[in-house]
Amino acid sequence: MLVYILFYNKNLIKRSDGHSVQIDYTFFYNGKILYLIKVLNKFLFRIVVCSIIGYSGKLISAAPLLVESLKKMEYRGYDSVGIATLNEGNILMSKGVGKVAEVDKEMDLNNLPGQIGIGHTRWATHGSVNAKNAHPHYSCSSNIAVVHNGIIENYQELKIELTNDGHVFKSQTDSEVIAHLLEKYYKESNFNVNETMIKTCKVLKGSFAFVVIFDNGVIAGARFDEPLIIGISNNALFLSSDVLGFLKYTDKSVFLDNGDIVIIDNDTFRIFDVNEKIVTRPVTQVAWELGSTEKGKYAHHTIKEIHEQTLTLLKPFQVSNNFQTFCEFLRNASNIYITGSGTSYNCGLLGKQLLSKFAKIKSEVVMSSEFQYSSDSLEPNSAVIAISQSGETADVLHSVKKAKESGAKILSIVNVPTSSLARMSDSLLTLNCGPEIGVAATKSFMGQLMIIYKIVNILSRDQMPFDEINQKHLLKMVKKVLRLDGVIQNLISSLDKNIKDIYILGRSIHYPIALEGSLKIKELAYIHAEGIAAGELKHGPLALIDKESVVVVLNPTDETYQDVISSSNEIKSRGAYIIGISNKKDDVYDRFVELPDVDSYLYPILEIVPLQLMSYYLALEKQVDPDYPRNLAKSVTVK
Ligand code: G6P
Repeated sequence: MLVYILFYNKNLIKRSDGHSVQIDYTFFYNGKILYLIKVLNKFLFRIVVCSIIGYSGKLISAAPLLVESLKKMEYRGYDSVGIATLNEGNILMSKGVGKVAEVDKEMDLNNLPGQIGIGHTRWATHGSVNAKNAHPHYSCSSNIAVVHNGIIENYQELKIELTNDGHVFKSQTDSEVIAHLLEKYYKESNFNVNETMIKTCKVLKGSFAFVVIFDNGVIAGARFDEPLIIGISNNALFLSSDVLGFLKYTDKSVFLDNGDIVIIDNDTFRIFDVNEKIVTRPVTQVAWELGSTEKGKYAHHTIKEIHEQTLTLLKPFQVSNNFQTFCEFLRNASNIYITGSGTSYNCGLLGKQLLSKFAKIKSEVVMSSEFQYSSDSLEPNSAVIAISQSGETADVLHSVKKAKESGAKILSIVNVPTSSLARMSDSLLTLNCGPEIGVAATKSFMGQLMIIYKIVNILSRDQMPFDEINQKHLLKMVKKVLRLDGVIQNLISSLDKNIKDIYILGRSIHYPIALEGSLKIKELAYIHAEGIAAGELKHGPLALIDKESVVVVLNPTDETYQDVISSSNEIKSRGAYIIGISNKKDDVYDRFVELPDVDSYLYPILEIVPLQLMSYYLALEKQVDPDYPRNLAKSVTVK
């Protein structure tokens, strides 16, 4: 019997510490298992990645531009879409559930008239996925519409106050309170936009960015812990959560700082803070190649980005990255922390091992979500290496904030040089690998590895060689591994379609790659995968191994080789199916992926490639979209 029960509710629960916490929950019962699929409140972690675009121009109508911009930012993940434009003093609005193209087709977004407008893609947090909860949100008299990214923590109190004042709410979102608050202060201030924005921002609590359109033609925005960027072109001004929102029109950007409020009035803008103090922010030229946001000949961004690694591998060395300064900070540090989330954390794990092995430098790797609890030895002389592709991951930014408060130096490794993390750093190394659209990091991981290797090379005073010749040779070898694409596709299609678990074994420097490979499989193919330090098998995981198990073994010929062969034999005798990834074949492997010979410390860079390809083809086998895995987001900008 298959029974589905779906219910959505709001409730107050009492936590053990005595606080009452509101939860939004949805249960899903499939006859066997009761799933709690969503629990959202300010005390729990969640994923929020809405995209915002605002446009004020003269030459073209706003709607098609807003639609196109939202499409460019699709990679961030979303479930509904909406735009609002100003036409002859009226704010028009259209919104719906689905992909930008679907909602456009259904609602004819493109034809909303007007030259000023705002747009949004929503990732549901407060309130279910429906058109009412999609942004923009109107004020009661529709003289204001707002789009929002982030969380308004005090929205319930505000909603009660505003409702008591006569405001009528149409959605379940926290965002709608912004529209009504703005309306309240707009009226009270006799339609003074400055005052309205300041008063509204002072009242709101949480991490948020929002953009608002007023019926007098002004567009305004505010940034409080969520990204917001101004784009400046000759004929128009933009406000977006991502440079991709306006990059087709201009590469001139102003990155707002936390607490900045911006007002765009015709072709001018002014930035000020909540004390009405005017602030100036530098205009930055963004160096993204727009072309690379397209899929080209590939079916998905993910596979394109996996193959693109041959183009991006050396990119960190082709920009003016100051490795010497970065390393000088590390040399002078009393202790070193490395932090990051997900893939970036896995890169940190490898960094720690290489630093210790070759440079004899001790460091501590702490995942960013744990940093606040595990960084007690931070002091003014500490250095924190923060690794983040986006430079906007909330957990990473929070860790860095904490580290800065202790006076520690922040050394970051990022892909987006204009990101919040980059701007908080004392020294910065950029991957320069272009926009990564696939949610699962691939080419950015490769770039991070390349940077880590260079740092270790410098700090080890060449004990670990990594000069231009090594790098170029490595590039050739990565190209060679990528030619195994077809082999890996066949290998994956020959596996049982109902694989439940995949284990990836590796010791020493291969262990972080085993972890990264298993993360890719989880993200892309929704299969339970676990990276295991091979020696740990006998301390527990071996109990899981049986005839159904698929085990991938990372085993190039280095000091770990023989031990991993022994582990493979142990697994084999329990009936598991073994895929060996190595430069040396062995009978214990049921399938073999051959790596070319390289210096042993370089194998991590090669062995991640087949794991990325495996994850991609597993996703295709399962018929799931590898670019936009369910429940995940490219940059998780909320704790
Ligand atoms: C999200 C993504 C992961 C990524 C992590 C860190 O969780 O889904 O794939 O590794 O963020 O992202 P960052 O931009 O900080 O490297």
